[in-house]
Amino acid sequence: MTTLLVLNGPNLNMLGLRQPEVYGRETLADVHALCQQAASKLDLTLEFQQSNHEGQMIDWIHQARGRVDGIVINPGAWTHTSVAIHDALIAAEVPVIEVHISNVHRREAFRHHSYISLVAKAVLAGFGTHGYVLAIEHFARELRPAPGQ
Ligand code: DQA
Repeated sequence: MTTLLVLNGPNLNMLGLRQPEVYGRETLADVHALCQQAASKLDLTLEFQQSNHEGQMIDWIHQARGRVDGIVINPGAWTHTSVAIHDALIAAEVPVIEVHISNVHRREAFRHHSYISLVAKAVLAGFGTHGYVLAIEHFARELRPAPGQ
């Protein structure tokens, strides 16, 4: 069974309330439901987590090593600050897709640099919460054995 881990960084528990003009009105529970629906349709096992604590996020990333097939991560503001999460993702040796709800490139300059993109196989930004679904669909396509195998 293919397992994907969806990780959400700081302040994403405030989705729906926080800057709805930027992030929309869906809550994190809505995003979880959306991801679960996409994963079930594609026959994938999904784990979904959010934390405001960097050490907790690093522990989850370490625990993914050898256990999950792909990580979808919205690192929130850690995208732009965290060498530690960058290093943890390298240590995990699991393919990573980075997701941002907003288009970080049309926002403040400090959001234009990502430590995570250096270790991500792909980056989705500005697709709203559908970005999570696109990342899950991409992993399904990549990880599923070709027909007849
Ligand atoms: C975000 C973009 C980040 O710059 C910001 O700090 C977030 C959310 C996004 O999903 O658009 O918390 O990752």
